[in-house]
Amino acid sequence: MQPHHIRNVLLTEEQIRQRVGDLVREMAGSCRGDNVVLIGILRGSFMFLADLVRALYRQGVRPRIDFMTLESYGAGLVSTGAVRVTKDLGLDVTGAEVLVVDDILDTGRTLSFARQHLLALGARAVRTCVLLDKPARRVAPFHADQVGFTIEDRFVVGYGLDYDSHYRELPYIACVTLLDSAGV
Ligand code: IMP
Ligand code: MG
Repeated sequence: MQPHHIRNVLLTEEQIRQRVGDLVREMAGSCRGDNVVLIGILRGSFMFLADLVRALYRQGVRPRIDFMTLESYGAGLVSTGAVRVTKDLGLDVTGAEVLVVDDILDTGRTLSFARQHLLALGARAVRTCVLLDKPARRVAPFHADQVGFTIEDRFVVGYGLDYDSHYRELPYIACVTLLDSAGV
């Protein structure tokens, strides 16, 4: 990790809480089928998914829930763009209406891969919901069905998002500012 600070809060707990409420009101109607599966992409989605499903519960929605771990890999800092499954689903999604939940839509590679993978596993429909969208970074054309907040091209942490496995626990979203050699 390079020297950095986490001082600029981009989205407060209250802003996130309100927006999660909006998203849940929008998605509740389409989550009432008898074969709905919410799939969180690990590890970044854990906090967002936990808040979504508790709010959905209060709307009477009772989906099945599962997770899959996807990783992009490449040499050093340059991603090859390849995505691989490091922990696959445990549930059978044949014929299911799947809602994929992730923390952030960045290049679009992870969610493009996830959609194809789930369709190949037999899902009847795959929709996507992300807390954050950074459209400026898109490499693979991809539109999420639901977006919490569209943000500038800044590296952010908190609410599940990490910098080198740190800061996932923050209940808000903040920007990472790298410090120069003088420490400012
Ligand atoms: P993709 O580039 O759309 O495939 O996104 C891949 C993953 O990169 C996301 O699920 C995040 O885990 C991670 N990521 C992208 N932007 C950020 C960021 O600003 N902070 C932390 N993680 C990020
Ligand atoms: Mg992630």
